[in-house]
Amino acid sequence: MSLIFNSEIINYSFPPKPDNLSQDEKIYWKIKIKNLLKEKNAVIVAHYYTNPDVQALAEETGGCVADSLEMARFGNSHSALTLMVAGVRFMGETAKILNPKKTVLMPTLQAECSLDISCPIDKFHSFCNDHPDRTIVVYANTSVAVKANADWVVTSSIAIEVISYLHSIGKKIIWAPDRHLGRYITQKTGADILCWNGTCIVHEEFKTQGLKHMKILYPNAAVLVHPESPQSIVELADVIGSTSQLIKAAYSLPNKQMIVATDRGIFYKMQQAVPDKELIEAPTAGVGATCRSCAHCPWMAINSLQSIANGLEYGGNAHEICLDPKTSQDALIPLKRMLSFASKIKNNFK
Ligand code: 13P
Ligand code: SF4
Repeated sequence: MSLIFNSEIINYSFPPKPDNLSQDEKIYWKIKIKNLLKEKNAVIVAHYYTNPDVQALAEETGGCVADSLEMARFGNSHSALTLMVAGVRFMGETAKILNPKKTVLMPTLQAECSLDISCPIDKFHSFCNDHPDRTIVVYANTSVAVKANADWVVTSSIAIEVISYLHSIGKKIIWAPDRHLGRYITQKTGADILCWNGTCIVHEEFKTQGLKHMKILYPNAAVLVHPESPQSIVELADVIGSTSQLIKAAYSLPNKQMIVATDRGIFYKMQQAVPDKELIEAPTAGVGATCRSCAHCPWMAINSLQSIANGLEYGGNAHEICLDPKTSQDALIPLKRMLSFASKIKNNFK
């Protein structure tokens, strides 16, 4: 795998974390949101990394809590006229690309993703132009414009299958933007991949020495790792997979303890799946130390009950996803390719 070096150092400005709510305040906002969901014919589509209160509300109100592939599928098949997407902006944009006639709202449009930020369309476009012989595969964690420039969009739960398929028919690949996932895919498939140099600020902060010590402390624990993590962390894993694949692994493995190297938001659904197992956070530098995220995505963290209520009530510039129609139509092609590939794989396993 060759890496395309993007030498810029990015200074992220993180929006402030929402206030902690009392029990009474939570009840107040939940009732308000439930009424607004009915009034607006809306449903909540939430990612596993959002706060437990947001996930619980999505479940209680007939919405979904899922990985990014399943979020796209759910929003696409649900009959609600409005989708309230709790996650980061590329997830809301994906919902809008797939459902141009629906209103797509987000708790806040400030919810970025370091991978998306690392891959600006102008640079990506000229890089792709320099390699016209390659099939362009981009991660879902990208802007609409980058998706519109791609042949395929994939999420982490289907990336290996898509790249294996492309490799089997002789394609050489451009992969963007996550270099760790790109390296992992290259190792798993043997494909010829040119890789963008982006990283996820959450997963890159897991600490190798700390994880080795933890494995000694918990010798019977299984280590579950998201493939956005660095190689030295992936090498210590028993299971490597997307968020939903990690939850399935926690359930199916016989181990009673799991060390989990991904955003701690996943613990809400993972603990539901394995109520009798102990879930342990893989080590970062620790809250208050040098890490920027400390195992919780700062952009996922700004999805709050208040911001969901505000989004449903007021919509508008701060909440509604509006896309350029032509770019959106172009981005729909590689996204649909992924969804149709995913449903073919599913049918093969029935
Ligand atoms: P999943 O597709 O596994 O849900 O991952 C999305 C993501 O942003 C991980 O950091
Ligand atoms: Fe992006 Fe990482 Fe946050 Fe996922 S956890 S949304 S990859 S910054």
